[in-house]
Amino acid sequence: MKKIRNNIILQYTLIIFAVVLSVTLALGFVISRQVTNHLIRSHIGMFPFLIQHLTHSQPEIYQFFKAPPGRELPPDAAHFLEELTNFGAVFRVKLWANDTTVLWSNNPEQIGQKFPDNSNLNGALNGELQVIVKELMERENIGDEGYGKVLSIYVPVWLEDRTVGVVEMYESDRDLFLQIARNTRTVWLTVIAAGAILYLLLFTIFLNAHRRQQKASQQLIETQDVTIIALAHQAEIHDVETGYHLERTTHYLKILAEELASHPKYRAELSPTAIAELVQSAPLHDIGKVGVSDAILRKPGKLTDQEYAEMQRHCEYGATILRRAEEKLSFHSFLSRAIELILYHHEKWNGQGYPHGLKEEEIPLGARLMALADVYDALRSKRYYKEALPHDECHRIIVEERGRHFDPAVVDAFLAREQEFLAVSEKYVD
Ligand SMILES: [Fe+2]
Ligand SMILES: [Fe+2]
Repeated sequence: MKKIRNNIILQYTLIIFAVVLSVTLALGFVISRQVTNHLIRSHIGMFPFLIQHLTHSQPEIYQFFKAPPGRELPPDAAHFLEELTNFGAVFRVKLWANDTTVLWSNNPEQIGQKFPDNSNLNGALNGELQVIVKELMERENIGDEGYGKVLSIYVPVWLEDRTVGVVEMYESDRDLFLQIARNTRTVWLTVIAAGAILYLLLFTIFLNAHRRQQKASQQLIETQDVTIIALAHQAEIHDVETGYHLERTTHYLKILAEELASHPKYRAELSPTAIAELVQSAPLHDIGKVGVSDAILRKPGKLTDQEYAEMQRHCEYGATILRRAEEKLSFHSFLSRAIELILYHHEKWNGQGYPHGLKEEEIPLGARLMALADVYDALRSKRYYKEALPHDECHRIIVEERGRHFDPAVVDAFLAREQEFLAVSEKYVD
């Protein structure tokens, strides 16, 4: 179920399949019924005229309809009905009285029976021509069971403005049924072909739109990524921390985040999306340095207190830059996470950091991870005022700072994955 929910193409395939299938079935049923009805109606069109002719030329027939069953038919009428049984594929003719009794049939067994529940008969007695296709199974068709599927036609007999009875005929017309079957098959084949074409058309339209949209979002994501990189490197140009500092710190942060995510306590906070946003944010951690003068950033000697205070303001500057950008967005983006990371990456677990002196879990988790990543890289890298330290020395310092500068949980994550830190530092050498 989850797989279907996540796969928009599969979802759409199923939805349009269901819609097209329903429409096709509905259309198939309606059209084939219409076509069959039309065929039958035009086939039986002449029967009402024949019956009208019979009654007009034999007025005695009206008396016959009022008499009890089993009486002799007027001779001309009997002759006419005999003729009718030889007409087309008609094999049975019955005359029904108004009280639903069989007055006459060319199968004498059926005469005298009464069927008040016959709905088609009742329809015809109410003045409407009735026609149905049926198997001769009912009690009413005693002696006719061998005919299989037949057409049953009920023609009302009118005297002035009311019906006096009904003439019913059974017709067993193979050609008609073959024609109906052929037409039905043609209707279904046409409707199914149209449904298949409609399905392919809709699916192609959707697939193209989906691909175009995916390409557009991919391009947008790439544009966002290069914008972030451009922004990050802009600050780096002013800084002494050049080379692969941003690449390495991003890798370190990712390693730490993935390690912590395997612990139940951090699993919810470090979802795959959260980790991706942290990784996106990491290169921006020092963008605020664009606001600090080069004289301070590149000063070879020790900074004065005033200069050091100015240097510390890079956290605020960076957060301000991104806050201004974030205000322009109408949706939640990775920027809020980036702002936290930028603002607090120099805070320390024991509350001795800057800019706000936050401590322990007051410091957002992303910033706690960034702090260790940033310091490890500073220690491992060569600066004009110091040599690059070997990994073991960095390890010693970080362990020493467990619970002081760094979150103990983050140090433990480092210890669990420090070989990967070493590998990254050796891969991206300035
Ligand atoms: Fe910084
Ligand atoms: Fe840094």
